[in-house]
Amino acid sequence: MKKTMQISASVLLVLSLLLASLIGTSVNAEPIPTVSLDEWYEQWDNDADLDAGIVLAPGSDETERYLRWYAPADSGEGYVLLSTDADLLNFERFEATFTVTPENDRSYAAVVTGLAADTTYYYSCRTQTEQSKTYSFKTLASSDFSAIYVNDIHVSEDEADELNIAKQSYTYSTMLDAALSRNADISIALSAGDQASEGLREEYLGLASAPAMKSLSFAGTIGNHDKKGVAYKDFFNYPNEDTQAAVQSYIGGDYWFVKGNALFLSMDSNNSSMQEHDRFIEEAVSANPDVQWRVLMFHHELFGGRIESREQENELLRICWTPLMDKYNVDLVLSGHSHYYSISNVMSGKTTQQSLVGQSSVSNPEGTIYMASGSINRPRSAEDPPLGENVAFAYLTQEIIYNIIDFTDTTLTINSYTVESGECFNTFTIEKTIPQSEREIGKLPFYYSFVKLLGRIAMMGNNIGRYYDYRTAGLLGNRKFSLSEALMGK
Ligand SMILES: [Fe+2]
Repeated sequence: MKKTMQISASVLLVLSLLLASLIGTSVNAEPIPTVSLDEWYEQWDNDADLDAGIVLAPGSDETERYLRWYAPADSGEGYVLLSTDADLLNFERFEATFTVTPENDRSYAAVVTGLAADTTYYYSCRTQTEQSKTYSFKTLASSDFSAIYVNDIHVSEDEADELNIAKQSYTYSTMLDAALSRNADISIALSAGDQASEGLREEYLGLASAPAMKSLSFAGTIGNHDKKGVAYKDFFNYPNEDTQAAVQSYIGGDYWFVKGNALFLSMDSNNSSMQEHDRFIEEAVSANPDVQWRVLMFHHELFGGRIESREQENELLRICWTPLMDKYNVDLVLSGHSHYYSISNVMSGKTTQQSLVGQSSVSNPEGTIYMASGSINRPRSAEDPPLGENVAFAYLTQEIIYNIIDFTDTTLTINSYTVESGECFNTFTIEKTIPQSEREIGKLPFYYSFVKLLGRIAMMGNNIGRYYDYRTAGLLGNRKFSLSEALMGK
């Protein structure tokens, strides 16, 4: 507890510096430096203290928030105190459940519910032996909202450099602060996979250490690098997570939530069992038929085409995924993996339905637009490999890219910036005045049953390989799986 208090004091210092930097900023202000890297190092502690491990996530809708945090094995029962008062007066208490981590710590999960619109809430995550500081978040006043979208944050452990995680967490935190200095009302961060490079607990602790993570809802996605370890599952608590999947990844599955007038579908594109994804989207869409925007996040970029050696895999992914976008009228796909920025034409299946080359907006597109952004900690070199034929706009830079997406009931505007230059290098608006409810659910092509069957078999094979990798690396701790559990990834 003493240690928690020491760390809390240092985190408080970081927070106060950050708050000081944010006061007086306004929309379109230049990015403002927060703490320096030296100051960050000084305050760095990568142990699993209660405050560092807290991650706030969206709820099923704006009346909820999901939380997860770490605490030692002997912490007793966990709970969250929530109040509209900064001193937590008249608090409401929400009980937490916990799972035991491979390191024999506890990962607590809680949901706070009954949230009113346009209200600032204060919360503290607690156990019988530990308590976090008080943090706050704000609920939306209307269906308009703004989101940060990034991918491939790649907080990475580096055995040769023990400060690498600290340094890369700082880069991530600075990016969040740059976005918030432009628009302090941003309420959610969308991350399209590869939050960490090795899937290790220390990497996710680094990610969670960014002070803004305590007030922004963080919506992540499983990337191929997240799957290298098993810690992802212990850091994120998401609503409507798919528990029905026969075959899934060890570290989690698809989930959905509604924010404003947008349905977000966060999908695990490492899982080739398309049967699960089709059923999951159908359930999510049926539960929210009138929500105007359908935004799907998954890790693997389909159309950028920058990395030639991946094109065979990409073609398989296009065969698997594009029929689902058509069937469910997905407006926008946010992805990553290539670490190259691109926005596609309006796509129908695998082909261009409407070219967007030279355009900065589109009205009522009859198809899906796919986007990928650069990596936060692993930007690509300035080489200029050939682009996919369906790309409408691409941007090459070694700087750190972040995107702010503004949602209204009828428009979705993407503004893309780099941290270093502070410049907006691309703006793109999708206007949609036709209600989503007037668009009919489509049909899958005749061959898709084979895609589902082969995809499921491939995923079971993948799970077995992954299971032995995890065991060999000693990542599962005392967890043991039967053969069927190993095959099914749970
Ligand atoms: Fe990546």
